[in-house]
Amino acid sequence: MNLEDIYQEYVKKDIYPYHMPGHKRNTAMMQMANPYGLDFTEIDGLDDLHEASAHLGRDSILANAMRRAARLFGAKHSIYLVGGSTAGLVCSILACTHRGDEILIPRNCHKSVYNALALAGLRPIYIYPSVDESFGVYANLRPEDVALALREHPDIRLAVLVSPTFDGIVSDVAAIAAITHEHNVPLLVDEAHGPHLGLFPGFPDSAVHQGADIVVQSLHKTLPVLTQTSILHVCSDRVDVENIVRQLTVIESTSPSYVLMASADKCVDLLEQEGEQLFSVYRSRLAQFSEQMKALKHLRVLCMGHDKPESHPNIYQYDPGKILISTRGTNITGAQLYDILLDRYRLQMEMKLRDMVLAMTSICDTQEGFDRLASALLEIDAGLTDGPLGAQFTLQQCTFSVPAMPPFVALEHPSIMRTPDEAAGHIAREFVYAYPPGIPYIVPGERIEAATLETMQQMQQSGIRLISTRHQYPSHIETI
Ligand SMILES: Cc1ncc(COP(=O)(O)O)c(C=O)c1O
Repeated sequence: MNLEDIYQEYVKKDIYPYHMPGHKRNTAMMQMANPYGLDFTEIDGLDDLHEASAHLGRDSILANAMRRAARLFGAKHSIYLVGGSTAGLVCSILACTHRGDEILIPRNCHKSVYNALALAGLRPIYIYPSVDESFGVYANLRPEDVALALREHPDIRLAVLVSPTFDGIVSDVAAIAAITHEHNVPLLVDEAHGPHLGLFPGFPDSAVHQGADIVVQSLHKTLPVLTQTSILHVCSDRVDVENIVRQLTVIESTSPSYVLMASADKCVDLLEQEGEQLFSVYRSRLAQFSEQMKALKHLRVLCMGHDKPESHPNIYQYDPGKILISTRGTNITGAQLYDILLDRYRLQMEMKLRDMVLAMTSICDTQEGFDRLASALLEIDAGLTDGPLGAQFTLQQCTFSVPAMPPFVALEHPSIMRTPDEAAGHIAREFVYAYPPGIPYIVPGERIEAATLETMQQMQQSGIRLISTRHQYPSHIETI
């Protein structure tokens, strides 16, 4: 069987996708001609993404399409990305810094940001997000922590913020942007999980409208767009678009996919013409789902059912499109719930963590899909009892290790493989993370703490597979 046959076989299993991409393989709603018929290259009359991005003001097919996207999202300039948000984040960081510069990074960043640091030879100043105690997830990045870091490190050249997080938590971007600008530092917002924000009522606003200078969004994560298709918005004159485009030509293929670009443009079309209506149906489906969650006795769903936003003081805003289900205080782990949803109910979730499962939704979810998840959760909940997990997992999301040197410096050292026990106290030379969400527990350049190793071990014990760059964890970790 070739890969297409394997995918077709998968589709026949009728497993409902509570994961990316945002089109949810809803082929009744999203259609396109045979991709072979639309797959071009930079031939006469069909433009060139790199050229068009470099001359956004001119009249060309792609420049016009990206201008239309910029109008929809409210940006000064928008650039289609065919290498995911990864490409947008890496090129933005390369474009806004020089080797050796300091950069402000929330420690719960995606690994693409850390890779950019290593590539660009930057010195990270980490700040740590607050934690929501009741669900044990990373919550807001506090504006006061950003202000303090900028006061203590006046040489920071760029500030990065992740909002929303993988779990849907939105920080106060406007307050953070005001602070970074007071210090003449541009703000890059990783809004990979929020391309659906700020477009229609009922969802938090986008960083594009809140003073961020660059915003990178994975269109494919929460909108009906093919995988890998993303967008970079430039929202102010504090950053140099030409530099960004130049870096994009380095990072991305010289043959950007015409099928992916057509898919992004089709989504812009759809949102312009039917977005209001589609988002209104989506909102009411989410509201109905939330209502149904009031019957849960053991499981909890963040900001849904009886769980109220007021009981989460560290969550500035929450994306109602994320369904984050906690098994804390019950007799099952997140991994067990995830497996039951898949094996018994044919519902594929996006992510499992120790005591949590995340379902991602979009305008392409069907009423039938929501009904399947609601009845599965209620049925599973009815069979649960109070359990030890609340007490067992009292550790916060992760106890991070202490940065000892920038990642690019650690990577210049020869590598020594050590068992986790031996690795404690040594400096890491690789990443260790769970994927998803791709937030590293260990980053090159950190002195590995015993407490970090313990969190990682707990993760493994609860059924979460951790991946390391050298693929030898849990037996070994690469150190210097
Ligand atoms: C917070 C965050 N930023 C960036 C990315 C990278 O996005 P992409 O897969 O579009 O490259 C991800 C991917 O999961 C992510 O979770």
